[in-house]
Amino acid sequence: MRRESACASYNPWMESRYDPYAQWYADFTRDWSPSCLPYLPSNLHGQRVLDLACGVGTLSAMIAARGATVAAVDASARMLDQAAPVAGVDYRQGDATTTDWWNGTPFDGVVSNMALMDVEDLDAALATIATVASPHGWVLISVLHPCFPGRDDTGTLPSWSPEHGYSWEGWWTTNTDGVRGRVGAHHRMLSTYLNAIRRAGLDIVEVIEPPSDVPRDLVLRCRKTRRSVPATRAPESLARKISLDGRLTVVAGPNPPTNDGFCSDRVQVLHWRVDEPFGDVGTHLHRDSDEVYVVLEGGIDLIVDGSPVHASAGEAVTVGAGVPHALVAVQYPARGLTIRGPAIDDKVSSG
Ligand SMILES: C[S@@+](CC[C@H](N)C(=O)[O-])C[C@H]1O[C@@H](n2cnc3c(N)ncnc32)[C@H](O)[C@@H]1O
Repeated sequence: MRRESACASYNPWMESRYDPYAQWYADFTRDWSPSCLPYLPSNLHGQRVLDLACGVGTLSAMIAARGATVAAVDASARMLDQAAPVAGVDYRQGDATTTDWWNGTPFDGVVSNMALMDVEDLDAALATIATVASPHGWVLISVLHPCFPGRDDTGTLPSWSPEHGYSWEGWWTTNTDGVRGRVGAHHRMLSTYLNAIRRAGLDIVEVIEPPSDVPRDLVLRCRKTRRSVPATRAPESLARKISLDGRLTVVAGPNPPTNDGFCSDRVQVLHWRVDEPFGDVGTHLHRDSDEVYVVLEGGIDLIVDGSPVHASAGEAVTVGAGVPHALVAVQYPARGLTIRGPAIDDKVSSG
């Protein structure tokens, strides 16, 4: 699957490292399961996702199969040649350390599976991720676990050179028959990765070490660092009065649809009015945010973690992060507030 380079300042040195092994890599890794796969959001329907340094597109195709539109970018034309054409995946040759290939539309999700060890300029690649990810999007990165020398009997010696030791950083090759014997890898200490991620403007949400007798992969769930207080705040935004006339008013939240709403990443406050039958489709949970339903008029029926909960005017129901719930009925006319913080896009369908 050859694609024209969309990258003006492309560095051919990077292309050459995987080019000679592209066919071999596709065969060798055919049965491998990408280490980021179990940690992707389960519902990717309608999302725009970037697979950065996508290689032969294994994970890109899996993401597309979950309903996303995927931009699959890799430096190696020969690796892209090995990628099977898949509906919903746009393969393009590009350098992860620049954004020359990017059309400027932010991605809902960015994944980089087992590739940052192949990139010489870590800061530049992370800057790319932080630039192209939407402020409310998700970022998933896996690398060779940097802390372990690996196992001789696998022939892969994943991370650091026994000769140099853990604290030595640089490119090295295992001289074995696996991927790292052919293309080598840049070893970096764990602290180097974590500090570089923060420096790039990303927060680490979760550090994952997939079960293994000797850890091979390290998976980092990240998101863009939230700067909810603008550097220069207009005086009128310090306090504002918001009319609650409509059926749904975004009093506060990351992207209020009108200028009236208060723009905040910390809290989402929705005021709602219901005067006809209403209920959620299916059950959901919020992975990292807590939610509070406040009933001002009428009443609501929720199912929270499988149990029915009713709240009438003057009552509130709290639902912690990770708890499955659904609003199943409203005794209308009803009015209330749904308050959630932090105001991140972490809604996951749970049935
Ligand atoms: C170990 S492979 C991983 C490929 C794929 N993500 C996977 O999980 O199979 C590393 C990939 O990083 C790509 N790569 C290395 N440096 C790059 C750069 N600066 N920009 C884009 N891709 C790069 C290589 O061409 C290679 O396809």
